[in-house]
Amino acid sequence: MWIQKNKAAIVLAPMEGVTDWPMRVLLTQRGGFSHCVSEFIRISHELVPDKVFLKSIPELKSGGKTPSGVPVQVQLLGGDARKLGESAAQVVGLGALGVDLNFGCPAPTVNRHDGGATLLKYPARIYEIISRVRDSVPPELPVSAKLRLGWDRIDSIFENAAQVERAGASWITVHARTKEQGYAPPVHWAILEEVQRTIKLPLIVNGDIGSQKEYFECKRVTGAIHYMIGRGALSDPNLVHAMKNDLELSETSELSSMGQSPADWLPLLKQFSELTQTYTETPGYTLRRIKQWLNLASKKNGLPWFEEVKRATDLPQLFARLNEL
Ligand SMILES: Cc1cc2nc3c(=O)[nH]c(=O)nc-3n(C[C@H](O)[C@H](O)[C@H](O)COP(=O)(O)O)c2cc1C
Repeated sequence: MWIQKNKAAIVLAPMEGVTDWPMRVLLTQRGGFSHCVSEFIRISHELVPDKVFLKSIPELKSGGKTPSGVPVQVQLLGGDARKLGESAAQVVGLGALGVDLNFGCPAPTVNRHDGGATLLKYPARIYEIISRVRDSVPPELPVSAKLRLGWDRIDSIFENAAQVERAGASWITVHARTKEQGYAPPVHWAILEEVQRTIKLPLIVNGDIGSQKEYFECKRVTGAIHYMIGRGALSDPNLVHAMKNDLELSETSELSSMGQSPADWLPLLKQFSELTQTYTETPGYTLRRIKQWLNLASKKNGLPWFEEVKRATDLPQLFARLNEL
C-alpha cells in the first residue's frame, strides 16, 4: 500500500481548478510527493463518459502515474453508493491505480446534490459508499476517503473515522476543519492525534500546513508522519523539500531550494506554461492559472513584485515584465 502505518509520506492534495494535470506534472517532477490525488470527478445519476476521466486525468493513459513516476489516485465524489462502485470499476479499467472518495467538499451546489461534506452527517452512508467502492476495486489497489472533521461539529470525526475503517478503506485523510468553517480558522490539528489513537488505519493529516513553521507545529501537535499539503505546495515550493528532509523520505529527485525573486519563479512558471499549452486550448487558461498561483504565493509569503505583473493581459507580457524586474 502507498500509505503504511510506519512509513512517512507527503501527498499532494486534490484542488479543483488548481492541481490539474500540468500542476501535478510540475510539482511531482520537483519531487518530494509520495502520491497525488486528482481533482474530484462528480458522479451523479449518469455514469461519467471515459473521455471525461481521460481529459481530467491524462495520467490514466500512462500507467496511472505522472511522468516522474508518482501515482495518482482518482477522486470520486457523490452520494450514490452503487454508481460510485460502478465508476470506481470504470476508472480502474481505464488504468487508475487507486481511488479516493471525497467527503469534504463544502461547495453549496455539490452539497445540495448529495455530495461531498453533506455525507458527513450520515456515518452509515459513508460506510455504505466505501464498502461498495472497496468491493468494486481489486484488493491490491487502495481505496481511501478524505473527510472534514464534521458538518458543524469537530467530534463527528470519531464516528465517521470508525465507519471509514470498518468499511475497509486503505487510509483516511482528514482536513482538520468542519464544513461550516469553510477555510476559516482555527484549524483543529490536536483532535487528529486523538482520532489516530482510536483507529488502526493510517491517518493523513491536512489543513493549513502552508509554511515550515506550520508544518513543525502540526507535527508537534499531531505526532503524524503522513501529511497532505494543498495550497502550501504552491505558495511555497520549498515546503515539500523541507518536509521531505525532516521526514527522512528517501527520494530520487533532489530538488534545490528556491528563492522568492522573479528570476527564481520564472523557470517554474515557464515550465508550467509549456505544460498547460499541451493540456488545453482554452483561451487565457495559462495566464489565469499563473496569476492564481502567484496570488496565492503572494498572500501567504508576500511577493512584492506580484503587483507589477498582476495586470498583464497576456502571457508574453507577463513573462516580459517578470524578465525586466
Ligand atoms: C481551490 C481548492 C479546490 C479544492 N478542491 C478539492 C477537491 O477537488 N477534492 C478535495 O478532496 N479537496 C479539495 N480541496 C481541499 C484541499 O484538498 C485541502 O483539503 C484544503 O485546501 C486544506 O489543505 P491546505 O490548507 O493544505 O490547502 C480544495 C481546496 C481548494 C483551496
